Amino acid sequence: MAHATNDLVAADIEGYLRAHENKSMLRFITCGSVDDGKSTLIGRLLYDSKLVFSDHLAALENDSKKVGTQGDGLDFALLVDGLAAEREQGITIDVAYRFFSTERRKFIVADTPGHEQYTRNMVTGASTADLAVILIDARRGVLTQTRRHSYLVSLLGIRNVVLAVNKLDLVDYSQDVFDAIEADYREFAAQIGLTDIVAIPMSALRGDNITELSPNIPWYTGPTLVGHLETVEIADDLHAGPFRLPVQWVNRPNLDFRGFSGQIVGGSVRPGDRVRVLPSGQESTVERIVTADGDLDEAIAGQSITLTLTDEIDVSRGDIIATAGDPPGIADQFECHLVWMSEEPMLPGRPYLLKIGSRTASVTIAQPKYKVNVNTLERTAARTLELNEIGVANINLDRQIPFDPYTANRDTGGFILVDRFTRATVAAGLLHFALRRADNVHWQAVEVDKTARARQKGQRPALLWFTGLSGAGKSTIANLVEKRLHDQGFHTYLLDGDNVRHGLNKDLGFTDADRVENIRRVAEVAKLMVDAGTIVLASFISPFRAERQMARELLGAGEFIEIFVDTPLSVAESRDRKGLYAKARRGDLVNFTGIDSPYEAPENAEIVLDASGSVSAETAAETVVDYLRGTGILTPPEAS
Ligand code: ADX
Repeated sequence: MAHATNDLVAADIEGYLRAHENKSMLRFITCGSVDDGKSTLIGRLLYDSKLVFSDHLAALENDSKKVGTQGDGLDFALLVDGLAAEREQGITIDVAYRFFSTERRKFIVADTPGHEQYTRNMVTGASTADLAVILIDARRGVLTQTRRHSYLVSLLGIRNVVLAVNKLDLVDYSQDVFDAIEADYREFAAQIGLTDIVAIPMSALRGDNITELSPNIPWYTGPTLVGHLETVEIADDLHAGPFRLPVQWVNRPNLDFRGFSGQIVGGSVRPGDRVRVLPSGQESTVERIVTADGDLDEAIAGQSITLTLTDEIDVSRGDIIATAGDPPGIADQFECHLVWMSEEPMLPGRPYLLKIGSRTASVTIAQPKYKVNVNTLERTAARTLELNEIGVANINLDRQIPFDPYTANRDTGGFILVDRFTRATVAAGLLHFALRRADNVHWQAVEVDKTARARQKGQRPALLWFTGLSGAGKSTIANLVEKRLHDQGFHTYLLDGDNVRHGLNKDLGFTDADRVENIRRVAEVAKLMVDAGTIVLASFISPFRAERQMARELLGAGEFIEIFVDTPLSVAESRDRKGLYAKARRGDLVNFTGIDSPYEAPENAEIVLDASGSVSAETAAETVVDYLRGTGILTPPEAS
């Protein structure tokens, strides 16, 4: 095959590419560890499909002689491990995708390390795979890690599994060993909903049952690994399911043409089909399916197209165009699975960005309902999720999104969470269902509104948010500001960290998670008070940017005024009125801000007060009052 292919490449590169284009593509993931022979297997697949470049091959022959473990034979593991070493230098690449092809099919194999600390990599690789090859060392049988890999495969919606019982040469090609492993695995797999399993006895090292049926295993009558990969029919749910087109962009080259472009992620579409646009709910009919190669009579999942509709309706990037009779749901609260992928643990209550398709929303996560022990499948109580942990939690979005359950559609039901500041991916998620409670709680219209209340008080409501280290002087200054405003007849309320922690927040301590919750509650309370028309002063260390940003976003434009009470740690510590710094230094008080818990200084505070001691608290307070006067907060809103 290799020669024929190479000749074709030399003689007719166009023809070669065309032949390639028309082959179907199978994406699969290999699950196992180096000990199971995973590198050898992948190396063998690449080698047998002759997609190893000749310079690689020369190096392989050399290295096999030098450091290989296979005498004069080729050590295929070196091939893959060599690539792996390269990849470790590129820290951003978490999953190595390798491409190879045979006469009948093209393949993309996602190769991820098998150990538990690489769960996130495996999840990434599995999320786009159609099939999983689960490797087992015939000498060791079904192991804890086999169960973990299988659970992840099942969670991520892969239905087709190849149980590759490898190293059969080391158990004398024993059918009994193979049969026992297969039976053992099937029993476990059934519990997690995996039924489509093909078990193949093999030796990747010896090439048994990889591309050719091995004379060493005469009792086996099934397909070879490559034979199976070439012919396996992938469950066609996606093509059979309802039509889904997440709109990536609105294509409007001129006034006469308006098309909606994207990749179909479910079902198929034909001109004349009735469609609904989500979330708006407007309906129309498909007019044309436009592609670079001309119009189509039908397009199916996986194809990138541009649709035109018969009616002029509003469609924007991030919307989903769907079968009118079977559209996605729309909701803003969900139960979901989360796979945590960040070194920073999940913080319930912290806003993250949720990306689903080409749509982005702000989201907060409630405390997990449970986390799953991926080795035993046991569920345990959890307050947070750490790197590589998997749990189930409710999430709350700031807007409604169209969605399908992940089990129905991986694209419209799968999402990622992104840190709002670093933009790093912190989790992958799978939507289960919308929370019904969201349907049954509605905004109640009220007749007296914020402006009316504020007008009666002769002021504009605002939230003055004082942030800084413990002992920076926040409360002292906030207190002076409130006194001045009060004396001038304004309506104020001061929320102070120490005080609120005696009542509303007395259940909270000083872990990161508790601080997030502290600020979330205070921000919500302050928002209500601002709605009441009050000028609210909040004095909290509030060490994290993310939560101060959350408070800002809860309020209207211009209502949130961040005041950084800027004091060097050394100065705050030398004041130490409550003796807390001394305790923290002695180790009698843990998680103390500035000592063993971080403080993230504001980057764009409206007001920065130098509180190092060179400016008096009175002057600092006056600066704040001047700012309020300057921005019109101390003047009543005009009558509407
Ligand atoms: S915040 O970080 O959650 O915003 P908050 O402002 O409510 O903190 O409370 C800070 C006050 O709690 C400090 O002024 C100090 O008196 C007290 N405190 C007790 N333990 C700690 C701690 N570990 N870190 C910071 N402040 C602490």
